[in-house]
Amino acid sequence: MDKIVIEGGRALRGSVAASGAKNAALPILIATIVAPGEHRIANVPYLADVSSTLSLLGRIGCPSLAEEGSKLMRVDTSRVAFSEAPYDVVRKMRASVLVLGPLLARMGHAKVSLPGGCAIGTRPIDQHLKGLEALGCTFKLEGGYVYGRTEGLRGAEMTLDMPTVTGTENIVSAAVLADGTTVIHNAAKEPEVVDLCRFLVALGARIEGAGTDTIVIEGVPRLAPPARPYRICPDRIETGTYLCAAAATGGDVTVTDTDPTLLGAVLDKLRATGCTVETTASTIRVAANGPLRGIDVTTEPYPGFPTDMQAQLMTVACLAEGESRFCETIFENRFMHAAELLRMGARIEIHGNTATVHGNGKLVGSPVMASDLRASAALVVAGLAAQGTTDVLRIYHLDRGYEDMVGKLQKLGGNVSRGEEGGKKGASAA
Ligand code: UD1
Repeated sequence: MDKIVIEGGRALRGSVAASGAKNAALPILIATIVAPGEHRIANVPYLADVSSTLSLLGRIGCPSLAEEGSKLMRVDTSRVAFSEAPYDVVRKMRASVLVLGPLLARMGHAKVSLPGGCAIGTRPIDQHLKGLEALGCTFKLEGGYVYGRTEGLRGAEMTLDMPTVTGTENIVSAAVLADGTTVIHNAAKEPEVVDLCRFLVALGARIEGAGTDTIVIEGVPRLAPPARPYRICPDRIETGTYLCAAAATGGDVTVTDTDPTLLGAVLDKLRATGCTVETTASTIRVAANGPLRGIDVTTEPYPGFPTDMQAQLMTVACLAEGESRFCETIFENRFMHAAELLRMGARIEIHGNTATVHGNGKLVGSPVMASDLRASAALVVAGLAAQGTTDVLRIYHLDRGYEDMVGKLQKLGGNVSRGEEGGKKGASAA
């Protein structure tokens, strides 16, 4: 297994480009199923989760091809031969459950393994099933699989118990081909849901209200790939992670090819730490100015502070002077990075869903174990800021969601390399 080795204590400086958003690329690649033909998707990040998605599409009979030297992906959904998402794919990537809606819409049946993915809470899919049932699907759970069937989707009005992101995506991806109008109340407003809806509209779908809590979908009989490639939106979580690395290391970093309007809540918190934050239409610069201040963060659905940035900002809080408080309201079990940060000298107390961080302005390098995707990113940020060497183990989580993280950090002057666990160190960076 690979690890990342970091010689910390260097301020990151310079600029780095954001990749396309993982959480938009996955539902969009999967939603190609609803429109038979050849799709071209641009700005697709090179990630393990994208490979898993393409392999899943391949397994159901939809081949894909990456255009050399570009981030353009071709997916051919002319024919769907199977309607199954097997356990060996789904266990690697929870988002595989997103095939349920598109397969039911296209084929009338689907068999999907119950999801695995990041170990952050139990993460049920009851709302996905409830929404699809309202559209006329029936489900049975057997042997770890969900079997879905429909005699024909029909529009329906529904209210989700919580604004689930992939749940909303699954329901919208099916409703676009339903007979009649679907209204989803309490829908997720995340930018990645909006990007999926924009893609579906490019296929000919009729959707209104994406980005608000009520999405209205007028079903159409058929959809077709658009003439022009569809471009995935920038990754706001990757962007935020590099900005946190700038703050944590006392550096000055500009992320380009991004969209500051997607990161309002994160930028507010970085400002509250005392950093300078400057934006243009497609760039964000964060520069640290002396000691960082403590902050209060509560995770919320978009446009609130994203749970996917909580761990990285907690690392920043460890390096601040003063107290910070983090309240996690989206997922249970999402403070696993805290135990590893303690090993690096952080002072964090956890009571229920609240973590109190007593920042003392420094961390010390140590071997740490990554437990999920964003926790891994937080530990890399911690290693960059810490005095001494940090080995971040189990980085396969990072490969799921960060395109070329080592290369990007090296570009910013980080002394970061990839090596093998229990063995050799990779080529060291300048
Ligand atoms: C997506 C993102 C993930 C992010 C999360 C919250 C993708 C591929 N992943 O995950 O990075 O952290 O949104 O912004 O886009 N819930 C239920 N029943 C359901 C569905 C969800 O109880 O049927 C609960 C979950 O357990 C959780 C909350 O709702 O407590 C929000 O989860 P959800 O928005 O569904 O997260 P994901 O879509 O899995």
